[in-house]
Amino acid sequence: MSFPKRFPNATVVSSEILGEKLKFPNGRTAPNRFLKAAMTERFSTYSPENPKKHGLPTEQILNIYDKWGHGQFGMILTGNVAVDPTNLEAIGNAIIFKEGDSSERRALFTQWAQKMKQDGGLAVIQLSHGGRQSSIWANRTPFGASDVELKTDPPGTMYGKPIALTTEQIRTEVIDRFVYAAKFAYECGFDGVQLHAAHGYLLTQFTSPTTNTRTDRYGGSLLNRNRVIIEIYDKIKNEIPSSTGFLIGIKSNSKEFQEKGTTVEDAKFLCEAYEKRKFDFVELTGGTAEKFVFAHERESTKIREAFFVEFAEAIRPVFKNTVVYLTGGFRTVGAMVDAVQRNTTQGIGLGRPVTAEPDLPKKILNGSVHSAIQDAFNPNDMIKQILASGSQLEQMGRNSVRKAGGDVMDQISDYSDERTVEVFNGKAMEMFGNIQKDAMAGKAPKMLVVMG
Ligand SMILES: Cc1cc2nc3c(=O)[nH]c(=O)nc-3n(C[C@H](O)[C@H](O)[C@H](O)COP(=O)(O)O)c2cc1C
Repeated sequence: MSFPKRFPNATVVSSEILGEKLKFPNGRTAPNRFLKAAMTERFSTYSPENPKKHGLPTEQILNIYDKWGHGQFGMILTGNVAVDPTNLEAIGNAIIFKEGDSSERRALFTQWAQKMKQDGGLAVIQLSHGGRQSSIWANRTPFGASDVELKTDPPGTMYGKPIALTTEQIRTEVIDRFVYAAKFAYECGFDGVQLHAAHGYLLTQFTSPTTNTRTDRYGGSLLNRNRVIIEIYDKIKNEIPSSTGFLIGIKSNSKEFQEKGTTVEDAKFLCEAYEKRKFDFVELTGGTAEKFVFAHERESTKIREAFFVEFAEAIRPVFKNTVVYLTGGFRTVGAMVDAVQRNTTQGIGLGRPVTAEPDLPKKILNGSVHSAIQDAFNPNDMIKQILASGSQLEQMGRNSVRKAGGDVMDQISDYSDERTVEVFNGKAMEMFGNIQKDAMAGKAPKMLVVMG
């Protein structure tokens, strides 16, 4: 039996600090500092003609979270769950919407939460609305903060031209839908929700000056552009008070990396508002579909691994009570411990490393490993890496932990093996060809995980 190759850990340090509890403003605690970051699964049902059956979590989803539920995370996030059945990030998103409420949906989401909480971690749903970044295969005329179309080449191939929400629709189609979904999550036993206000989805379309050209109270100043998020938060708090222990967090961009996009100063202003409002946690990330940033933009951050470390440090001082997580790039215990010791972040978010190894936190905390598995992909080939993670999600979904004889690594490809990567690359090329053919024939492409 061969062991996967791991990232070289410059200094072997104790992981003890990563096992410390995190206390949230509402009094709840996470048992340790690890966060399983949101990764879109796309394994829920797709049935827009029959709302009762649309966006239901499947056995694959339950199996995937069964694996992470044995991984010793302090908090586990779902992939983006849509709050609107027609504004999906992708076909296959799980959806929570009042028109589709049923005992079946409630039972499946309840089981999902149970799978996530098996070893004591907090189960949190990431709530999202695709806005102008809704998949064109699900909706050719999505809602947007304004009617600014996402540029693709050739135009209109991936995303349709958005329709600007009216002021009234912001209440009925956005705020009310987020609040309904949060209440549903609470009633199904989840410990909290995270508002997806990053990577260019609807809530970021409000906060970003590039996509918000509104002149009502939701546009103009940064205070106005942040209003929809604050109103969602206030209404959720009204429905589910802090005394219940239900967490409300947000995934927020530290910087948008695109012309005239959200700057670090803007992000700091937004985060100040979240701290003041007593959001339980903020997860810092960066980028949009216009500019993916799941890799190093600057040489200076490479040594510290986390892509957004410099931006997080600029924003960090605004947080006094709100817990901060930083996601993107962490691969070695040395860098994770360093980020916590320097107080750059309190929590460590992990994405791609935990599709390769769903119990990475457990192994780090018991000292049996000191870094993540190092894949053999070209480090600049982000699309392949993301696709590879998507393929590992599919593999995780095949069996429950019990059926896999207790092995959480059951059937997961080892992409640290060059031969396996070669085979994967061949299959990916084949898939890209099929996607192109399907797209030309006007058919929805099969299995293309880009980013949620
Ligand atoms: C397959 C895949 C799907 C993703 N889907 C989501 C998502 O649904 N919501 C989200 O906020 N981020 C999503 N992301 C981004 C991750 O949460 C994370 O920010 C990113 O992978 C960087 O962290 P990493 O370097 O540890 O992978 C996704 C990433 C991957 C690889």
